[in-house]
Amino acid sequence: MEAKLARRMSCISPFYVMALLARAKELEQQGRDIIHLEIGEPDFPTPAPIIAAGLEQIATGQVKYTPAAGLPALREKIVAFYQTQYGVCIAKEQVFITPGASGAFMADPCYPCNSNFSYLFNGQPQLIPVTAADDYQLTAAQIQSHWQAHSKGVLIASPANPTGTLIKPAVLESAIDQTTALGGCFFSDEIYHGLVYGQQASCALQFSQEVFVINSFSKYFGMTGWRVGWLIVPPAFIGAAEKLAQNIFISTATASQYAALAAFAPETLQELERRRIEFAARRDFLYQALQEIGFKIAIKPEGAFYIYANCQQFTDDSFQFAHDLLEATGVAVTPGKDFGQHNAQHYLRFAYTTPIARLQEAVQRLQQFINGRKG
Ligand SMILES: Cc1ncc(COP(=O)(O)O)c(C=O)c1O
Repeated sequence: MEAKLARRMSCISPFYVMALLARAKELEQQGRDIIHLEIGEPDFPTPAPIIAAGLEQIATGQVKYTPAAGLPALREKIVAFYQTQYGVCIAKEQVFITPGASGAFMADPCYPCNSNFSYLFNGQPQLIPVTAADDYQLTAAQIQSHWQAHSKGVLIASPANPTGTLIKPAVLESAIDQTTALGGCFFSDEIYHGLVYGQQASCALQFSQEVFVINSFSKYFGMTGWRVGWLIVPPAFIGAAEKLAQNIFISTATASQYAALAAFAPETLQELERRRIEFAARRDFLYQALQEIGFKIAIKPEGAFYIYANCQQFTDDSFQFAHDLLEATGVAVTPGKDFGQHNAQHYLRFAYTTPIARLQEAVQRLQQFINGRKG
């Protein structure tokens, strides 16, 4: 008998942008100059103090398992970070170090892996269309009106991918209250915290101790490839989370955890602040430049490093548009299709993970491409 794939695998969608990325790399190998605005990771290298801490640990040769929940020293640093950053008090036992943040109810558009994770665990994600009028975030009213007997929880991300928008503190608080009143779990993906350019991002723990907070060293701390993040669970879930960590990943990569110990060092934070200011300048440039050439951006993003722009004026098929744009100009962007179904064909995500000079060049090429289509 032939082995068969589980039926739920058919629900799991690929990252559509991966095909585009592969083509972009192929063109690059052929000598084409490609401007990458499709990749969701900072272009900056990992800060030097973090690299030094990781290397120092590797040099000891003692690169062994750590406790499943993570290095006690790193968990303590995270507890201290929540105290100084948000004024919230959590116990070390609530903090779980994870291999990245990758791991209900979700907004559409949203980060696509989360839906796929729920399929993997036989869950059924329910995507709720959100609009710019609500900062592309779920509200308490939407949670209430969509709730069904089998609903288990709600996931929000702020700043969000792909829109870069933040949830307002009062909206976050009422979304948590509503979910709790319905008997559901509330998950807050705060992986882009730190990368905010206007208002401060609120942490869900500022409103309730009974929430799950997902965070990571990937984006703000510039550690995507080190694969280290963290999860804060409500006190009643500590035992269950411990068992899952032991079984699913035993422990997060040891050198990465030691490296992350240097993430909160003053010299690292100074460097990260310089980078945040640079990201803000790029955001301001691209936000204006895209609108000048005809893209519609309903709300100015205040976080992460993404702009979700409406391209309906140029096409009804942003997927094809992105592929044609790459072939014709060497500018790589992500089509909306990767982030949901609601109007996705009218949107493109631009990641400003490249210096302003390259963004200027990308906008010029975009302008020429659009003019060429008109002619
Ligand atoms: C909203 C969001 N959550 C989670 C992740 C996962 O990041 P990592 O696993 O690198 O921490 C990403 C990555 O792009 C993201 O955009």
